[in-house]
Amino acid sequence: MTNKSATLNTGNGTIDLPILSGTVGPDVIDVRKLYGGTGMFTYDPGFTSTASCESKITYIDGDKGILLHRGYPIEQLAEKSNFMEVAYLLLHGELPTKEQYEQFRYTITRHTMVHEQLANFYRGFRRDAHPMAIMCGVVGALSAFYHDSTDINDPEQRKIASHRMIAKIPTIAAMAYKYSVGQPFQYPDNSLSYTGNFLKMTFAVPAEPYEVDPVVERALDRIFILHADHEQNASTSTVRLAGSSGANPFACIAAGIACLWGPAHGGANEAALNMLREIGTPSRIKEYIARAKDKNDPFRLMGFGHRVYKNYDPRAKVMQQTAKEVLERLNVKDPIFDVARELEHIALNDDYFIEKKLYPNVDFYSGIILNAIGFPTTMFTVLFALARTVGWVAQWNEMIEDPSQKIGRPRQLYVGATQRDYVDINQR
Ligand code: CMC
Repeated sequence: MTNKSATLNTGNGTIDLPILSGTVGPDVIDVRKLYGGTGMFTYDPGFTSTASCESKITYIDGDKGILLHRGYPIEQLAEKSNFMEVAYLLLHGELPTKEQYEQFRYTITRHTMVHEQLANFYRGFRRDAHPMAIMCGVVGALSAFYHDSTDINDPEQRKIASHRMIAKIPTIAAMAYKYSVGQPFQYPDNSLSYTGNFLKMTFAVPAEPYEVDPVVERALDRIFILHADHEQNASTSTVRLAGSSGANPFACIAAGIACLWGPAHGGANEAALNMLREIGTPSRIKEYIARAKDKNDPFRLMGFGHRVYKNYDPRAKVMQQTAKEVLERLNVKDPIFDVARELEHIALNDDYFIEKKLYPNVDFYSGIILNAIGFPTTMFTVLFALARTVGWVAQWNEMIEDPSQKIGRPRQLYVGATQRDYVDINQR
């Protein structure tokens, strides 16, 4: 905190607004007293200039392409850590000791099963339902199952709800996949890692043994790390907003899943692979670049551009490298990878993309890896949701513990009709 302030002249007088400083990153103008002092609101659709909360979890410098979780660079976490450890870090603020890590892993592992009745929910969906639609419904339904962990003001109950959410989401996601392909649900195997267990629940069938491939396990674990949290993005803000009313934690995560599904957010990984497939061959790239630049064409290069990154998304760099490694190790020759690399090269040398600072984002290469592993495109955003659940849970906890937390309640610039009298239907 500093004693700096900004003076705002509204035309009807001036007001001094405090300027607050974080540990790193832009200062913020504290406008909480603005309405009381001037009768005016701020106007910022899409929150492009608004800090909605104070947070210690994730820091992004979009101009430099830096992403830190609790201070640790994403590149180091992706290379040296694993998803369970990153989950602990996001939730607790520090890397765990060996004992803390083992205890956390044990606790999460013991919560992986879901109530048997939850399986009934799946059967209510059409078999061709999009797995994200199933996720919204089934995760929301968890709120009807765990009544003993829903007093959000009790830290112990919050902890149990958080562990349940992180532990059960892979089971729920794998069940969504199994339902869509008509195979029997697989129970969790607690002898495996978090990611290994998810792979087994997704791809194993009762008819034959299943071995987790360590290359695939490591690659998927890395993808989970890269998606674990990303500051106050749309779905995280949705979770915080839903949670600000004191809503049930499982319902809040379901709200986050609903928001993530959109193609401008988590749905972009599915859209990016579909786009690369549609392009199909490097010779057609120019045509698609031209479409992306055409103001009269709604087409956008999926997996390109970001609200915050005006530089290469650091997650995309790791993702590109991982895609290369996975394809090599699995001996998959995917022509789409060549299309992606060529598209990236052409776009990064094109004036339109240079001027607008549009770079590949996390979703540009992830689909290629997931496709090589064997996931259908409809599962891509589900995997994003699975990983992001950790971030949502950490951010939700931070919000509830924040003494300045209030119900989220934005105001508006009203541009509708002014007061008028009701007209009887026969006189209209
Ligand atoms: N292809 C072509 N032009 C683009 C693209 C793109 N992918 N992204 C932005 N632009 C242009 C856009 O037309 C606009 O041009 P102008 O200023 O002339 O009107 C300018 O760049 C700024 O775009 P914007 O839509 O105002 O920027 P935003 O910050 O509101 O949107 C975005 C960010 C990620 C929604 C957008 O870049 C986009 O739609 N990208 C494609 C979808 C995508 O890959 N989303 C995943 C984001 S990363 C993972 C996640 O957060 O879930």
